[in-house]
Amino acid sequence: MKIGLEGIAFNIPEHFINIEELACARGIDPAKYTQGLGQKEMSVSTPCEDSVVLAAGAGRKLLEKFNIDPASISHLIVGTETGIDHSTSVSSYVHLMLGLSKFCRVFEIKQACYGAMAGLAMGINYLLSRKAKGSKVLVIATDIARYGIGAAGEPTQGAGAVAMLISDQPSLIEFETQYDGYYAHHVMDFWRPIYSKEAFVDGRYSIQCYLEALEGAYHFYKKNALQSGLVHSVDNFNKQFAACLYHVPYVKMAQKAHIKLLEIDAGRTFGKNSTYLEHAQNDFNQRTLPFLELNSRIGNVYTGSLFISLLNFLEDVKPEAYGKHISLFSYGSGCGAEFVSAKVLEGAAHRMKRDSFRKALDSRKRVKANRYEEMMDACARMDDNGGNVCQPEKWDLQRSELYLGVKGHKRIYSIDGKIIQ
Ligand code: HMG
Repeated sequence: MKIGLEGIAFNIPEHFINIEELACARGIDPAKYTQGLGQKEMSVSTPCEDSVVLAAGAGRKLLEKFNIDPASISHLIVGTETGIDHSTSVSSYVHLMLGLSKFCRVFEIKQACYGAMAGLAMGINYLLSRKAKGSKVLVIATDIARYGIGAAGEPTQGAGAVAMLISDQPSLIEFETQYDGYYAHHVMDFWRPIYSKEAFVDGRYSIQCYLEALEGAYHFYKKNALQSGLVHSVDNFNKQFAACLYHVPYVKMAQKAHIKLLEIDAGRTFGKNSTYLEHAQNDFNQRTLPFLELNSRIGNVYTGSLFISLLNFLEDVKPEAYGKHISLFSYGSGCGAEFVSAKVLEGAAHRMKRDSFRKALDSRKRVKANRYEEMMDACARMDDNGGNVCQPEKWDLQRSELYLGVKGHKRIYSIDGKIIQ
């Protein structure tokens, strides 16, 4: 049975800050953020754009763009580490906002940035079971990455959501369901205590943990590929992939990951200034970098970052890649990771309609550093009961889904002007 992606759409905050401007505001050489981290812009959310709003917007865009009947969706799974309540889930509100059937399995997954990939794996297994009977699974990754003003992680913040519909009628990619590779190991590389809106991170250590998890997941993937009987050799296995996509906390991390992948297959590390390293960097420029434009202009979307790159790939994919495989690597701090592959389906780019993500990026409003700081400060108070920072007119928002704050200890949203709670 073929299981894959039938639709994908994204949603981002309406404001952004230029990354060089942020560097100047912090008294840092802008080249550190642009060349050292590979970033260009960073999405900035207002208090009225929480993880529910971003997810619901992405879900609505997907249903409309791919003409999906909400009644055909049997599962709604939201991957997020930007929870809104200790008990009720982001998915519960999104289920209501999308008008999905009451006969739907609805839940949220938290496993740092790995949550949405875990949701996809779960959805794929459900669709492969005999229970699915042609129904569809909607997985939404939604997050607001926040380290705080002046923190080392500040230029790697961002926000957004990606909605993905998987079914037995894929039109974009078909997942390789016979084998995959996952990995987990408890590490304190990045975490967000229950009392904090901002993440704590051991930055350099988190990079090391990411690369170790890539090695673990990729080895397991190759072992499972051999055991499946479909593959007879895993020598230089990466060569089969037309594109290699990674979790992207910032663009340069994906470059480190790709070089690591090639080193694993080569069975050696590539020395500084070596021709091996030069080849690996050129290979990154061919098979990964072209699909990181969106990431470089949004920043980290935690659970959504890998799939933002996938969306970029699908809009820009050339017909030569149809029928070929791509790889997807998800990393979630803490840590959990997974390496999977998928076949690109004929006509995928046509179904995506090229340049729609660039239009969405270009329609955002640019803010200066002091306005960004004002938004960050208001977001810190957005969940206070009876607070008054969630005023859409104050933040110059055009969107149809809005978070309006907490009143009587209940979250209030509006969708197309209608209040829901
Ligand atoms: P830092 O310590 O400020 O930066 O933090 P640095 O000194 O390491 O410099 C960064 C790079 O810029 C270096 O390049 C410098 O050489 C270069 P590298 O050695 O890495 O190749 N550089 C310059 N380049 C040009 N001109 C200059 C210049 N100066 C320096 N003038 C760090 C960087 C990424 C650690 C920080 O931003 C951070 O802590 N970010 C958050 C954590 C993170 O993103 N970790 C990535 C792996 S973990 C992960 O992906 C999971 C995550 O998404 C969370 C989840 O799973 O939920 C984060």
